[in-house]
Amino acid sequence: MPTNHPRLAEIPPTAGLPPHCGDLWPFAPRQGGLERQGAAFIGVDEVQAECSGTAALVVALTTLRRLAGRRVVVAPAFTCPLVAIAVAHCGLELRLCDLAPGSIDLDADALARACDRDVLAVLPTHLGGRVADVAAAVERARAVGAFVIEDAAQALGARRDGRSVGLEGDAGFFSLAVGKGLTTYEGGLLVSADASLRRELRRTSRDIVAWRPDWELRRSFELLGYHAFYRPSLLRLAYGAPLRRALRRGDPVAAVGDDFPLRIPLHGLGRWRRTVGARAFARLPAFVADCRLRARRRRARLAAIAGVAVLGDPAGAEGCWPFLLLQLREPAVRDAILARLWGAGRGVSRLFIHALPDYAYLRGVVGDADVPHARRFAATTLTISNSPWLGDADFEAVCAVIEQELVRNAVATA
Ligand SMILES: Cc1ncc(COP(=O)(O)O)c(C=O)c1O
Repeated sequence: MPTNHPRLAEIPPTAGLPPHCGDLWPFAPRQGGLERQGAAFIGVDEVQAECSGTAALVVALTTLRRLAGRRVVVAPAFTCPLVAIAVAHCGLELRLCDLAPGSIDLDADALARACDRDVLAVLPTHLGGRVADVAAAVERARAVGAFVIEDAAQALGARRDGRSVGLEGDAGFFSLAVGKGLTTYEGGLLVSADASLRRELRRTSRDIVAWRPDWELRRSFELLGYHAFYRPSLLRLAYGAPLRRALRRGDPVAAVGDDFPLRIPLHGLGRWRRTVGARAFARLPAFVADCRLRARRRRARLAAIAGVAVLGDPAGAEGCWPFLLLQLREPAVRDAILARLWGAGRGVSRLFIHALPDYAYLRGVVGDADVPHARRFAATTLTISNSPWLGDADFEAVCAVIEQELVRNAVATA
């Protein structure tokens, strides 16, 4: 089976909500604008729209620093590099916390060691739409008088006991970047269950976020381009070709788009892009439910393969499923699977390439740290897109490659 030749259709690595051209109509829908619909979807009185998830995090950290005057932010050692860049942008110090083995959760012992009276905030992170253990982070943070910001950038639609993630800590944020379900081509939603903190978050936004027509124009063109190209027949040009070029160069960081600029743009989110997002919200609940059903079926198929663990959610939680996150036992098997499938157009990819201390370009903002579980997670995981465009036959072909590589490895090591 030729698996490493790109086909005409290109499956995106995550399940982004397919855009409709009707979304581009410039008048707000009857149901209300982006913030109103976001609030209804998340189940809160109010959300605050920012120009990115990173900008939402910057607003949250700036607010908490003003309120508490502390300097240290505790974040998972395996997360989006933008988190480290945001912490540096705010003039704060990043303290990395290892993951629990084979999990997206913060390791309990490492968290206990990381938390002291200098800590401003702890960032439990709902990676890949999985629901993280926020209660443990809240307990540790409260013990030292620190705040909790839930990083739900990848988890719009994820719930625990029927309630959206992002509300158990002091504040939480969701990303509306490309590939995160609903997108305004970069955007973010900031939430807090605490009304007085919400007022402070708004105040910070007024103080540090300026209206920038140049950025709005750029993002508006990018959003139009996204609407034109986000379809299997054209993603080959917009996503597949640059991906394969990066893989040929041996540059996995560029291949997954982990090579972020070190400067964070802070600007308003314009009216037209808000309207596009507001219209798309109408389709999001059904889309998230559909993703959940497909993920359940496909998880069952993958669970039948010995040697593969698919990350799930704790009891009472229902994550959202942009992709299935798989862990293999051996880095060599993971790499052999990727050698055949990453770049083959079937939606197989990686989450983040490294644990944060291992990105060369982040050396100025991330110090070294002993984070073996995060490093192992980076070396043994891969993702399979949960896009509705990945049909059953293609998914089965992906499973077959995984099975073949596991058998090959078992024979070679016998
Ligand atoms: C875990 C996590 N945190 C924060 C961010 C930043 O969000 P944005 O891209 O909207 O700035 C991302 C984006 O990928 C992310 O995955």
